[in-house]
Amino acid sequence: MIARVAFLVLLLAGAAAAGFLLLRSPGAAAGPEEERTAAFAGPRKCQACHLERHRRWVESAHSRAGASLTAEQIRKGVDFRGRACAECHVTGWKKPSGFRSGAETPELGNVGCEACHGPASEHIWVMTKAKVDGTEPADRKIGRSEDCSTCHNPHLSYRKLYGAKKD
Ligand code: HEC
Ligand code: HEC
Ligand code: HEC
Ligand code: HEC
Repeated sequence: MIARVAFLVLLLAGAAAAGFLLLRSPGAAAGPEEERTAAFAGPRKCQACHLERHRRWVESAHSRAGASLTAEQIRKGVDFRGRACAECHVTGWKKPSGFRSGAETPELGNVGCEACHGPASEHIWVMTKAKVDGTEPADRKIGRSEDCSTCHNPHLSYRKLYGAKKD
């Protein structure tokens, strides 16, 4: 029992240390606002602490949004009213540490948690640290950043426009 607890503590400490190294490195910026927009981590990183939210997201259309586009449509850039297809179908399009390509950033190739909540590496870092220390973090460093209407337009159906079989 004691050995198991010790193992768990070590495991968490290790994860925190790894998290620190990984998440602090490139994107960590100067001001508090920039710190908040650290880097995209991908939905799988949220699963351990937000199991139910993650399950619901996997079941939602957002988790498959990238699959509605062809590789060509993703690459193409500006297409519809000055907006690229991928802008609404993947996570962090054209943003630092955001989606680059299906091969390079498969975890960001859909409308992931961070498409709505913003890049979460700082959140993961403070929450992992709080878990290990057994303390309440002063700042969760994450929020609800995107309105549904950033991507959903009540005046038109993208489904109709782009000829999906459904609808
Ligand atoms: C190490 C654990 C941990 C990880 C990993 C983690 N979170 Fe959290 N998160 C928490 C805890 C604890 C809270 C506070 C309790 C709650 O609201 O569920 C929280 C709260 C939140 C909130 C509400 C913020 C607020 O101000 O109330 C959002 C949104 C969120 N997390 C999103 C994410 C996303 C997205 C990811 C993955 C990119 C993620 N979390 C990864 C532990 C974690
Ligand atoms: C980053 C862009 C983006 C944001 C922000 C966004 N969505 Fe979506 N949503 C999409 C895309 C793209 C699809 C279509 C997925 C696909 O390709 O099948 C979709 C699909 C859906 C669907 C399924 C629609 C259907 O008819 O089957 C629902 C419901 C939905 N979104 C609700 C919401 C809500 C509620 C919000 C705000 C809390 C929101 N979305 C924010 C991009 C977004
Ligand atoms: C402004 C955000 C936005 C842009 C830009 C956008 N989409 Fe979408 N797309 C959505 C949303 C939101 C949905 C789901 C609800 C709807 O049909 O309006 C959707 C749905 C779809 C669907 C239907 C998916 C399904 O399974 O039913 C296809 C296919 C699609 N989009 C392809 C494209 C293509 C191709 C482009 C670029 C030419 C594009 N979209 C540009 C937001 C966008
Ligand atoms: C389409 C946009 C969208 C996506 C994708 C999304 N969320 Fe959220 N999330 C919201 C909105 C809007 C709320 C506030 C309403 C609610 O509680 O459902 C919220 C609430 C939350 C909360 C609770 C916040 C609180 O104040 O209690 C957590 C935690 C959270 N989301 C985590 C996640 C995680 C983890 C994922 C991915 C597995 C995810 N979200 C994906 C839009 C989104």
